[in-house]
Amino acid sequence: MWEVLDSTKPIKRRGFRGKPGMTNVNRRGELGSPGIQKKGTIMSQDVKTYYENYDEGRRLSRDNAHKIEFLTTVHYLNKLLPPGSCILDACAAEGEYAFYLAKQGHEVFACDLVNKHVAAMKANPKADKLAGVEVANVLDLSQFDDERFDVVLCMGALYHLFEPAEREKCIEECLRVLKYDGIAAFAYINRHAMYINHIAMGKSSLEFMNQLRDTGKNLVFYGMDFGEIQALAAKFPLTKIADVAIDGLSYPLAESFNNATDEEFAAYMDYHLEICEEPSIRGFSMHGLWIGKKE
Ligand SMILES: C[S@@+](CC[C@H](N)C(=O)[O-])C[C@H]1O[C@@H](n2cnc3c(N)ncnc32)[C@H](O)[C@@H]1O
Repeated sequence: MWEVLDSTKPIKRRGFRGKPGMTNVNRRGELGSPGIQKKGTIMSQDVKTYYENYDEGRRLSRDNAHKIEFLTTVHYLNKLLPPGSCILDACAAEGEYAFYLAKQGHEVFACDLVNKHVAAMKANPKADKLAGVEVANVLDLSQFDDERFDVVLCMGALYHLFEPAEREKCIEECLRVLKYDGIAAFAYINRHAMYINHIAMGKSSLEFMNQLRDTGKNLVFYGMDFGEIQALAAKFPLTKIADVAIDGLSYPLAESFNNATDEEFAAYMDYHLEICEEPSIRGFSMHGLWIGKKE
């Protein structure tokens, strides 16, 4: 997902290093260095700037390690979504899931906060397969009526909302536009997977690591603590269907997955799909997907 947490290259286990407050560059020397978070709320402008400079469009298909997240997510969506659903993909990026779901016969509206992502979807040769594409902030979906959709996918915004009130507003707005009995899916980042990955990367200061452990903040990203997604969902009329480790062990074992044969990778995917709701696996998974039904 993000270069600062990308572990698709061999891991050098060097422990923490760096002086408190020092800047760290990522493995590819690109945008995004684990830094000490300034106080205050992350602004949507910071999130926009991050994605304007990051190739989110190819993230999910880059290699086997990244494909695990996409394959797991569509496995659950295919299992749970009624045929011909009217879907809002509220954080669609360049439409990886939106185009896939449209191809499955669903009616898909795709939105995103970032202009570059929306422009990419509009420029896609298959753009006419989507029912609508527009820039939107999930905190204000006022262009859509109450109970408009059978399914709302919010797979991205919770990664960037630092304040509890914003995270609640995000869920509230998604549920407002969702029909009763409709399905909502909220992706989130696991704080402790993020922490473990930073140890593996061996380049973060202790000050940064302590900040990550205590606040879940890493630049424009927010990682949830144990049980946090369930506690958040419990504030709303939602019944849990599944809480899934969508990329499982893809970060710590990226090199193995990327060197696997097709047969080995297929065997791992079968195994992963059997175990990806286990709490012990969820803790290692960088991304979680909480799926529920609106009551
Ligand atoms: C890591 S990408 C995930 C994209 C895709 N949904 C997926 O799961 O692979 C996060 C996406 O959420 C979008 N996003 C972040 N905050 C948002 C918000 N408040 N409203 C709508 N989209 C938002 C970003 O622009 C980005 O495209």
